[in-house]
Amino acid sequence: MSEARYLHATRTAYDAVAADYARLLRDELAAKPLDRAMLAAFAEVVSGPVADLGCGPGRVTEHLRTLGVAAFGVDLSPGMVAVARTTYPDLRFEVGSMTALDLPDGGLGGAVAWYSTVHTPPEVLPAVFTEVHRVLAPGGRLLLAFKAGDRLRHLDHAYGHDLSLDVYWMSPDRVADLLGEAGLVVDARLVREPDEQERPRQGPQAFLLAHKPQR
Ligand SMILES: C[S@@+](CC[C@H](N)C(=O)[O-])C[C@H]1O[C@@H](n2cnc3c(N)ncnc32)[C@H](O)[C@@H]1O
Repeated sequence: MSEARYLHATRTAYDAVAADYARLLRDELAAKPLDRAMLAAFAEVVSGPVADLGCGPGRVTEHLRTLGVAAFGVDLSPGMVAVARTTYPDLRFEVGSMTALDLPDGGLGGAVAWYSTVHTPPEVLPAVFTEVHRVLAPGGRLLLAFKAGDRLRHLDHAYGHDLSLDVYWMSPDRVADLLGEAGLVVDARLVREPDEQERPRQGPQAFLLAHKPQR
């Protein structure tokens, strides 16, 4: 079966920007206390291996490691994975897609998708969440970060490069409903206003913590 067009476009875009994305965002979490609070809460409740899905240059994978989490990264973009491996040689990073993970059923204690579902068309998200449900162990945790809203923005330029990339802003209620339909239970949701760096082009940012029920 041929690959979906959005996956090809996403990979192409992130391969092009990988090095500059890594440089520009490497220390971004340091100025985002609420984002770090969600990652810290996730780290506190999760146990077992954690996949950072759509890990990009690995900055969140590394942050999770500093919180004591056994995290590894998976990303669609070989360029991103190459940057992640070079930057964090002690961590494991693999090329792969969250639409079809090369992971066994029920093997993960947790998964994080930190702004990595934002390029997935909403009609594909149910399949992605079903795949996350498959790879999580009973009781396994999921943490999502995404842009809150209800619109599609097309980017022609980002991180200093010309590219072509769709970004979907989704309402937290809608994402929570989709998680529920995939069999995941939402435990917490945080919506924060855009900070100084994010204004005026960005809007509210959403974070959802969920788990797979024991049965
Ligand atoms: C905005 S970046 C976020 C990267 C990283 N999570 C971070 O916060 O720095 C989005 C990342 O998601 C990856 N991505 C998008 N769709 C994906 C998919 N279906 N499977 C795996 N990775 C994906 C992209 O290649 C890109 O590296």
